[in-house]
Amino acid sequence: MKKSFFYIANWKMYFSHTEALQFVTKYMPGFISLTQQQRTSIIFLPPADTLFPLQILLKETPLLWGAQHVGLLERGACSGQISVLSLRALGCQYALVGHSEHREMLGETDESVARRANLLCSSGITPLVCIGEDSTTYQAGKTLDLLHEQLTPLVNTVSLASSTQQELFICYEPRWAIGKDEAAPQEHIENVLFWLATFFEKHHFTHKPRLIYGGAVSSENSATLKKINGLDGFLLGRAGIDFQEFEKIVHYT
Ligand code: PGA
Repeated sequence: MKKSFFYIANWKMYFSHTEALQFVTKYMPGFISLTQQQRTSIIFLPPADTLFPLQILLKETPLLWGAQHVGLLERGACSGQISVLSLRALGCQYALVGHSEHREMLGETDESVARRANLLCSSGITPLVCIGEDSTTYQAGKTLDLLHEQLTPLVNTVSLASSTQQELFICYEPRWAIGKDEAAPQEHIENVLFWLATFFEKHHFTHKPRLIYGGAVSSENSATLKKINGLDGFLLGRAGIDFQEFEKIVHYT
């Protein structure tokens, strides 16, 4: 059976709480009908304040949801964070860790990304681990070296070998493509995904991680990007808050 293709909408902080709920209420029938297309899974990643009402709205639907972040501790002195216990209670099946905006603005490190991912795995929530290089590294042809560096704490910390259920998503998002007009070239993404598959095989992960691409995915380039070997889905920023654009991305193959 062919695997599902994931469309993951990272709403970032684009919407206020009220706007987010208006958006999802307005377009829910449309999003649900998109999931009726073969092999299509849709995951919303709203800001933490919207998780509770979103859970009520989406509970009986095929739409999935998750968080944009998780606190480093299971509970305790961690002001301004959301705990893995709350994420579970809010029905999150997924949580993003290590988005480049967190790495740049909040000092997220490869080690803290690995710790957050491990915490999620031990709570049965699938981590969506973001990695990606900046433009200087890309231009110097050093992308794979940097990805190796970013992933090393993760493979040393997260042990999926003991679990038969737990999944892991690796979201490759070159920083120089996020929020820009052009996605990374198809061939570059293909090389990275091939390298990632080999890297995780070498580290004896029981489950092959699902490999996601993010960074300037739009209806203009999605049909081409979908042809990339080994690609399991898209992480969508701007296109994740524009239903018409999202719909085209899902439909165009
Ligand atoms: P973008 O953002 O689709 O707006 O480029 C992607 C992301 O940051 O996940």
